[in-house]
Amino acid sequence: MNSKIALNNPDAKELWSIDKNHHLHSYTFPDSFNSEGCKYVLTKSEGVYLEDSEGNRYLDAVGGMWCTNIGLGRKEMATAVAEQIEKLTYATSFIDVTYEPVAKLAAKLAKIAPSNINHVFFTTCGSTAIDSAYRMILFYQNARGKRQKKHIISLNESYHGTTYLAMSIGGKKSDHGPDFDHITDTIHHISCPNYYRAPVGMGEAEYLDFLVDELENKILEVGSDKVAAFFAEPIMGSGGVVVPPAGYHRRTWEICKKYDVLYVADEVVTSFGRVGHWFSSEDLFSIQPDIITTAKGITSGYIPLGAMMYSDDIHKVISEEGHGRCFSVGYTYSGHPVACAAALKNIEIIENENLFDNVNNVGTYFEQRMKSELADLPLVGDVRGIKLMMCVEFVANKETREEFADEVGIGSLVSKQASARGLFVRPIGHLNVMSPSLILTREQADTIIDTLRDSIVATYEQLLEDGIVKS
Ligand SMILES: Cc1ncc(COP(=O)(O)O)c(C=O)c1O
Repeated sequence: MNSKIALNNPDAKELWSIDKNHHLHSYTFPDSFNSEGCKYVLTKSEGVYLEDSEGNRYLDAVGGMWCTNIGLGRKEMATAVAEQIEKLTYATSFIDVTYEPVAKLAAKLAKIAPSNINHVFFTTCGSTAIDSAYRMILFYQNARGKRQKKHIISLNESYHGTTYLAMSIGGKKSDHGPDFDHITDTIHHISCPNYYRAPVGMGEAEYLDFLVDELENKILEVGSDKVAAFFAEPIMGSGGVVVPPAGYHRRTWEICKKYDVLYVADEVVTSFGRVGHWFSSEDLFSIQPDIITTAKGITSGYIPLGAMMYSDDIHKVISEEGHGRCFSVGYTYSGHPVACAAALKNIEIIENENLFDNVNNVGTYFEQRMKSELADLPLVGDVRGIKLMMCVEFVANKETREEFADEVGIGSLVSKQASARGLFVRPIGHLNVMSPSLILTREQADTIIDTLRDSIVATYEQLLEDGIVKS
């Protein structure tokens, strides 16, 4: 391995090689990566486009990782970040200080969050926001003398991050395989609320009753004196852009209230305009969670930042006078001034450019065209999502909804066809997910849909030729 070379001015091929030898990628297969390395060396970004070292341009329909909400390469963001570095590079709330960007951002988040949520703890990303939510839940329940309340209920196929705890709360089968351990004694999973995968013949209203009953029964089974919190994404992201049946969030939230169980809305993806609102819990689903976690769109991916926001009721308990409890949770980079300055500028851009209007306009067009024009294609079982958060689920048999064997790698086959045509969509198993920047134009929405259509048709033809599907 002769990779300790050419660090001064490596060309693309050398970069690819040193990356292969030294960089463990996220969610990767080390065995095949050792021989294959990565696919692209990226060199530039602008708006909704990425460019590779060969000069090929790609429309990034993934939006980074659901995060490049205001689009890439903005001068205003670079200036805000640079100015903050020059003014006050680093400060920490571990010691008894505050500073403009952190205080302003906390107040701004309190203003745009549901009215019961007025308190913010800053983290470094979504996973650490989930960890901090869990720490807050235990702190709060202990402060109330409810020391038995340690159990968490969450959803199959949910994704809440990649720390040991966040991965354990998440319900992705693929994350809970034999190669990793996860917490099983205090974390319980119930059905993913995906009507496309409901028992055959069950109507949507009946399915909703089944899901709500399942939560109530799980609370009773574990013991309402032991269940501390329920975690849910308003719209499941990595689990396949699952929009639950209408009324699901409201009814599960009511069940939580009934049994004194905290409701945590993981809005790491669904906040900051992804579906046309700052947060979707209240505006879209009419609930006021006790805790909201967020990250990603909070800075549009320019600088890492996350936040765990919690209710006045929780604050009242933890700050009860005379008890002198210490919330002993904190990260070196909690409330980093540069990250907070980036978030403030990002929010200002979303407001000044009325990006929610664009989401409601272009996003609605994108959703409608995608649902009406892709659903009938071969291989496509379901097209689902809201506005700029969409997903195509591929199936081996449209009638029985039977999935392809994992070895076929159907999501990757389609996404490879798409990237050969200048479009990035994200394969997750048998899915392709999309969450383009909120600045997407109608023409770019058309390009995504037309290119994806061609890619699906080309994949189908390839599978016919290989004898994997029959016409
Ligand atoms: C809903 C949800 N929660 C939490 C996370 C974890 O966020 P991060 O990757 O910033 O740690 C993600 C990441 O995709 C997510 O989609």
